[in-house]
Amino acid sequence: MEKEFKRTLVTCALPYANGPIHIGHLAGVYVPADIYVRYLRLRGREVLYVCGSDEHGVPITIKARQQGCSPQDIVDRYHGIIKDSFEGLGIHFDIYGRTSSEVHHRNAAEFFRKLYDEGKFITRESEQYYDPEAKQFLADRYIVGTCPKCGNEGAYGDQCEKCGSTLSPEELINPKSKLSGAAPVKKKTTHWYLPLQDYEPWLREWILEGHQEWRTNVYGQVKSWLDGGLQPRAVTRDLDWGVPVPVEGAEGKVLYVWFDAPIGYISNTQELLPDSWEKWWKSPETRLVHFIGKDNIVFHCIVFPAMLKAYGDGYILPDNVPANEFLNLEGDKISTSRGWAVWAHEYLQDFPGKQDVLRYVLTANAPQTSDNDFSWKDFQSRNNSELVAVFGNFVNRAMVLTHKYFGGKVPVCGNLEDVDREALAQIPQLKASMEKNLEEFKFREALKDAMGIARVGNKYISDTEPWKVAKTDLARTGTILNISLQICADLAIAFEPFTPFAAQRLRTMLGSALNWDVLGRPVLLPAGHQLGTPELLFAKIEDDAIQVQLDRLARIRAEREEAARAEAALQVEPQKEECSFEEFEKMDIRTATVLEAERVPKTDKLLKLTIDTGIDRRTIVSGIAAYYTPEQMVGKQICILANLKPRVIRGIESRGMILMAKQGDGSMRFITPQEAVCNGAIVG
Ligand code: 2FM
Ligand code: ZN
Repeated sequence: MEKEFKRTLVTCALPYANGPIHIGHLAGVYVPADIYVRYLRLRGREVLYVCGSDEHGVPITIKARQQGCSPQDIVDRYHGIIKDSFEGLGIHFDIYGRTSSEVHHRNAAEFFRKLYDEGKFITRESEQYYDPEAKQFLADRYIVGTCPKCGNEGAYGDQCEKCGSTLSPEELINPKSKLSGAAPVKKKTTHWYLPLQDYEPWLREWILEGHQEWRTNVYGQVKSWLDGGLQPRAVTRDLDWGVPVPVEGAEGKVLYVWFDAPIGYISNTQELLPDSWEKWWKSPETRLVHFIGKDNIVFHCIVFPAMLKAYGDGYILPDNVPANEFLNLEGDKISTSRGWAVWAHEYLQDFPGKQDVLRYVLTANAPQTSDNDFSWKDFQSRNNSELVAVFGNFVNRAMVLTHKYFGGKVPVCGNLEDVDREALAQIPQLKASMEKNLEEFKFREALKDAMGIARVGNKYISDTEPWKVAKTDLARTGTILNISLQICADLAIAFEPFTPFAAQRLRTMLGSALNWDVLGRPVLLPAGHQLGTPELLFAKIEDDAIQVQLDRLARIRAEREEAARAEAALQVEPQKEECSFEEFEKMDIRTATVLEAERVPKTDKLLKLTIDTGIDRRTIVSGIAAYYTPEQMVGKQICILANLKPRVIRGIESRGMILMAKQGDGSMRFITPQEAVCNGAIVG
């Protein structure tokens, strides 16, 4: 039996305030959460919607160091940008707090302190990397070295971004501190750990038995963690940025960011509702739902619940954790460090007034069960052929025709014909499906249902052609438009969670405030009701606006490829086997000048060169056409291996070889004496 709740507390993963948010964040967490909250509110349910910035953690300190400012400067900057982006997209949290706030520091410290006092932690001494020059313990991210798996020299102590391997600092070859460049040394340190293994039987029962309705990706990840056996998890770190560990002997230590961040949900609620926050966190009548991305599953389904269980005091646990998979961009993984992303704040500048389009496209392509892709062409086509051509077009026709024939007043609905009944009958079915999908966090499917209503309307008005009927039968025209307008009102409700800006404009045009219950009823707008002025709900997006975005991504891709090439060029071949002086002496290397050069017909790579070797004139066929044109070669002084056995290449006898410097990426440059010398001079 499903449990009845009185109210719902919706939390969204607190974004790290070390960079702006992008479409991956929006599609994974914030747009679905916002749809859910808007839907619940439309149904008149009591909801609290909590989020805020996650302002601790090592990446923030690294960024501050790189930019020569304080971590507080960094989080102040990005907290503002992120908050504005959410607002701009119509995502209005009841509170958007910060984990650097006083309330949170106090609350997180108190949370730790209680668990500490009650003996819920264990302490462990371990050896960790320490920078002897900077006199500081090093977080994994502060250690770089060579990846043992792929040889990348810039791998971090926790991960190699080149091959994606998860690493521990001990695995790095030649580890170095990012702070001073010094080789880190091992030093003893003591930390507090939450013994997660003690909570394993309880977690199994609570989730594996009690929450089989959770999404399979979430349930599966939890199960594999539990089956793998839980380990004690450190909840403190040696760092100078975070919530100081509030016990004696813990100087220079802070709470681990993943210990304090989820407590941030509680702190933010306390900040908003200092007197009534407990109703949201400690009442069994409250349903807690965490919206997160898949990389956060373990923290929200295992670690945080274990923390709350350890704390006791009536804290509720999540009733569901609808985690999404990841969104890719134009076929590639979104990467903040490589700039491969569409940033929310930039989108809002580039596409003013088009918040709904992004919300719509991110929902239509939501990575609910597997990773999904965002492409600008798809964005354009969903706008032009769905929002504009179906939803917008239908509403516009219904509104404009009503103004034309009935002075903007809802006409009387006469006798219904089959076509009318068939159209109207579909709405309650789509509503029921939408409800089910929304309750089950299937937002992509729910959006399809909403769009289904627009399709019903658009088809209905196209099939019944009221503009033609008006020439002979104005009463029938009135009936058709009455039905069309009722469907417009249905759309104003159905789309409120998905495209709230358009839904609001539509409500204004219809001159009516609407709620979920009336969706699908026969009469939402009574005959005679005065409508507002028609305006277009959506506008076409032209190719040039899309091209600007594609060009930007193409530039980033080109820069990335260039950087990869440059890096590859720096890769040096290992030294070859030893050779004796006599062996070397056998080689007749000498200077020569290119007299003539031409391409070898029907090849891409070969040039035929006539050269003056000082001893003769001869022909050499060389595979350098990818790097030099014939014109670039003529007159150049080069070095050749003169006594290489002649070979016939493409029917041409080649006598000798041009000495080239070959770089790691395969590109080649010929070797030339630094100053002109006579042809035939021996090189050695
Ligand atoms: O992955 C992230 O972006 C984290 N900052 C999410 C934290 S969620 C919560 F626990 F605060
Ligand atoms: Zn690697």
